[in-house]
Amino acid sequence: MQGVDPAWLPDRAFRPIGTRRTLIRGTGPLVDTVHGEVARACEQFGGRVERDAAPEPFDLVLELTGDDSSEAFTYEREGGRTTVTASGGPGLLYGLFHVVRLGEAAFQGSHGRVEHRPELALRMLDHWDNVAVHPVMGQVERGYAGGSLFWSDGRARGDMDRIRAYGRLLAACGINAVAVNNVNVHEAEAHLLTDRIGEVADIARELRPYGIRVHLSVTFAAPMVLGGLATADPLDEGVRGWWAETTSRVYEAIPDFGGYVVKADSEGQPGPFAYGRSHADGANVLAAALEPFDGTVHWRAFVYDHRQDWRDRTTDRARAAYDHFVPLDGQFAANAVLQVKHGPMDFQVREPVSPLIGAMPRTRLAVEMQATQEYTGQQRHVCWLGPMWSEVLRFRPEEGASVGQLARGGLVAVSNVGDDPFWTGHPLAQANLYTFGRLAWQPDAVPGRILDEWIGLTFEADAAAGVRVVLDGSWRTYEKYTAPLGVGWMVQPGHHYGPSVDGYEYSPWGTYHFADRDGIGVDRTVATGTGYAGQYAKPWSEVYESPTSCPDELLLFFHHVLYDHVLHSGKTVIQHMYDTHFEGVEEVEAAQRVWQGLAGLVAPARHARVAERYEEQLRSAREWRDQINSYFLRKSGVADAHGRRIH
Ligand code: GCU
Repeated sequence: MQGVDPAWLPDRAFRPIGTRRTLIRGTGPLVDTVHGEVARACEQFGGRVERDAAPEPFDLVLELTGDDSSEAFTYEREGGRTTVTASGGPGLLYGLFHVVRLGEAAFQGSHGRVEHRPELALRMLDHWDNVAVHPVMGQVERGYAGGSLFWSDGRARGDMDRIRAYGRLLAACGINAVAVNNVNVHEAEAHLLTDRIGEVADIARELRPYGIRVHLSVTFAAPMVLGGLATADPLDEGVRGWWAETTSRVYEAIPDFGGYVVKADSEGQPGPFAYGRSHADGANVLAAALEPFDGTVHWRAFVYDHRQDWRDRTTDRARAAYDHFVPLDGQFAANAVLQVKHGPMDFQVREPVSPLIGAMPRTRLAVEMQATQEYTGQQRHVCWLGPMWSEVLRFRPEEGASVGQLARGGLVAVSNVGDDPFWTGHPLAQANLYTFGRLAWQPDAVPGRILDEWIGLTFEADAAAGVRVVLDGSWRTYEKYTAPLGVGWMVQPGHHYGPSVDGYEYSPWGTYHFADRDGIGVDRTVATGTGYAGQYAKPWSEVYESPTSCPDELLLFFHHVLYDHVLHSGKTVIQHMYDTHFEGVEEVEAAQRVWQGLAGLVAPARHARVAERYEEQLRSAREWRDQINSYFLRKSGVADAHGRRIH
């Protein structure tokens, strides 16, 4: 697309296919998509593509062997020919992108037949896009990449080419579902469900050729807001009937509609509590309406008291999701998926894995990540989240299954994309989107390999090593200059960018660090604290309960300790803070130099955009270092062992 960055699908990535002879067998809309891709590559690079039957020889055969909706494909290379087979259109499309990723290697040597299939059936992006511009949150809530791809100032944006280009990128990294509006459903957005469903159908039409189903965030109060009923009580017959009827009309407009996303009783959104009903009652009424059409309701577990009194030391926001939902295990309908944020708080730089995951064996859970970098540098800082997500997905809540295996309802990320020409504002933030899709396909994939794959597709070979250096450790670097040892929330309130150590300390949001002159951290132990550590199964409840066994990086999440508490690393807490804040800034300086060295090896516009963001990252990292270090020096009175300048 003109004027838009090709991201991980530059024309060059199609050269190996486009210079060869390809045979495509089978019919159907997704086979047409595959054909379109290959034909375009051949036009550009001089190869040939045939359909169904044509004289030999072929370098590549892409063959649909059935007519189901399977996403699996097989890949093999034998006798100088590469063959991909699939029984469903989506599988064939994923097989094509597999060949694209392999590049020239797909046409060399031989390779036994291997079957590839996604480990998670649902791989979803939630857009926090508003239809109307919200007075505080703007067009995209927590969006750092310009406006919305779908909506503009109250209307459908109508740029169908761009939506198609987006679908193509998503399919190439394995994503198969998109929720097109914000979980906070305001007035204009509510109407997408009824009188504006045609606008959602238009988006669905563009994404369908890439195997992507569309979902909608809806308000729990819709029967009142849209239907004029006097109640939204989930056990009311009229309410049930309204949801059933409304949903059947949605399916008339969008036969392959994915389902609903609901944020209920959460940060002011309406929900079943108003009627004395449970969240299972709430979810099940929507599930019943979706069930005849094979749709799913994604019910979010982000339910907590956001009007807490900071003086109250007994309430612990981290406990909330578990306390609310574990008693409901077994009560959710089969097509209701409980969507749980990966950590107990809210996408901080470092959190433990939510204890809810693994604690509801009779409920389908989806795990929610945040690709949009609300708390991780807002796409002005380089922060590749692959290692964080991978740690979460590999975590085993108890002996047995990993989080990646327990996420039977799928993996969801809050999208980091907007109408920015580079899609994600910071061009290197594209790596987060790509990595998310690939991890959702295979949760135990090695993140470094995914990074290499993304770099290989996106950049010329001579830039690869440098790009890898600046991305690889960037999350840990970000953690160093921002959030020590599992402390969160030391950010500016509201927009969440930049440091403010006490910004949330006396707020109603349940987000405290309790720093005083002697120490810092939240006592979440069973013995003397909020009891949160006891929500984990063994061994983790025991590991987290004691400061001796608690991993350093989560120490202050679970414990209130003195500044001279000695970490496993051998350093005191306060010296660790000083050291990591100095190191973090040095690492940003070093990364910036590496990036400068890539001038001439990276497309000029992309290079310039990243270079400009590095200026801001460095300024901001220094601000973080100086504010955090000064604050804790003044609080504790403990000098830096190395006598560095602290203000
Ligand atoms: C965070 C974020 C909000 C968002 C909420 C959610 O609190 O700051 O903007 O609405 O998460 O996940 O619902």
